[in-house]
This record gives sequence, C-alpha cells and structure tokens, in this order.
Amino acid sequence: MGRRKLVVGNWKMNGLRAQLGEVEAIGGLARDHAAVEVGLCLPATLIAAADGVKGGAFIGAQDCHMKANGAHTGCLSAVMLAEAGASWTIVGHSERRQDQGETDADIAAKALAAKAAGLKVILCVGESLDVRDAGNAEAVVSAQLLASLPEGAASDWLAIAYEPIWAIGTGRIPTMEAVATMHAALRAALASRIGADADAMRILYGGSMNGDNAAELLAIADVDGGLIGGASLTAEKFAPVIAAAA
Ligand code: 13P
Repeated sequence: MGRRKLVVGNWKMNGLRAQLGEVEAIGGLARDHAAVEVGLCLPATLIAAADGVKGGAFIGAQDCHMKANGAHTGCLSAVMLAEAGASWTIVGHSERRQDQGETDADIAAKALAAKAAGLKVILCVGESLDVRDAGNAEAVVSAQLLASLPEGAASDWLAIAYEPIWAIGTGRIPTMEAVATMHAALRAALASRIGADADAMRILYGGSMNGDNAAELLAIADVDGGLIGGASLTAEKFAPVIAAAA
C-alpha cells in the first residue's frame, strides 16, 4: 500500500499578489517535507505567478469547465489552467455544488476534462448536517462518490476528498470514529467500482482541519491527507498540518 500523504490547501476566493510570499513560504515547507505531497489550489488569477515561486509544492486550480474551449463566458478550461501552471484541480467542492448547482454528472465530466488536459484531480464529496443527523451519512456519501466518479478513475490521477459540509469553516469536526467509518466506507465503494486500485487511491479529509487536530485525523488508517481551507492561507498556520503529515 504505502499511500503517500497528500496535503492540499484550498484558498477558495482568497489571495492577491500580496500573498505570493505565503505561497513561496509554503513551497519552502513542502521542500523540507518531501515525504508529503503538498499543494495549493489557488484562485486562477494567481496560478501563473505562483508557478514561479512554488518551491516543492504543486499549484492547482479549484474548478474547471467540462469543455476545452467554446462560448462559455467567464469560465476557464482545464487546458487553460494547465497552461497557466496548474498540475491539479479540485472538482465537486460542496461550495460549487451549492452555489453553482453542479451535479454529480457535471463533476464526473469535469474530472474527465481535467484528466484530458493532463491535470490530476481531487474529487470532493460530503454530507449535509441533516444527512449526518439522520444517521445514514456513509450510504449517502458513498452513493454521491459513485455517481461523481469518472470513467477510468485510477489512483495515479485521482484523489477523493471527504468534506462534511457542516464541518467546513465551522470549527466543528466529526468524531475520529465517524471519520474512520466514512473513509473505510468510501474505500469499499471505490473497490466496488475500480477493484484493487482502490487500495492505492488517496482519500483526504477536509473541514476545519488545522494544526491542533491534523495529527489525530492523519493517524486514521484510511485518511491519506487533508484538504485545508482557512488553515492553509498562511505558512504559519499550514506548517503544523504539513509537519503532522510527515
Ligand atoms: P476549512 O478548512 O476552512 O474548514 O475548509 C475546508 C474546505 O472546504 C477545503 O476545501
């Protein structure tokens, strides 16, 4: 097995050129912790500039269009993001599923477009608080994962991020037992679709992950890294998360 830990910052709609110093500092942390794969998914406006200061980190995007080009005002294709310097992209973040009404089918199509452009992909899934409280979160999120999973899903280009919606930006996280149960369920769901390669696919946890809880979360058997929002915005906050993964 030996899945290399993957720790990725998602800056969401944060970051101007003034923050490129943080990118550079995080790139330095990545170089110092080469056992961990570290990346930053930045606003598209920063990708090209960040590519020059990324150090040991990779630069990723936060979304891509499902087409390579065309009449889609305001959208960016995976080809464009790759040319700008991205080597990964997130697809299916819950904020886009909610704000932009993205469906599971859209997300699978975006993942395939990213792969065609040479990008690796982090595909996000996660349940609402209502689903969690109803007690069937594993079944709902497993179904969401299988519905969003692209054709040809494989561990060499795809990683999964489990992000409970109610844990994002709230300071609340599930119990360690709940995270362990969910990640094991998602790996079983992957195995039902892609067989033995499910063992090699990284399943990240995301949602209020920070320097205080990262070590405990990353010690869970099926937790292969993290997708981190707020605690990735500065090198000072991100450093203990990267160190915990190393
Ligand atoms: P926070 O770490 O700010 O809770 O955000 C998590 C997230 O949504 C990462 O994609």
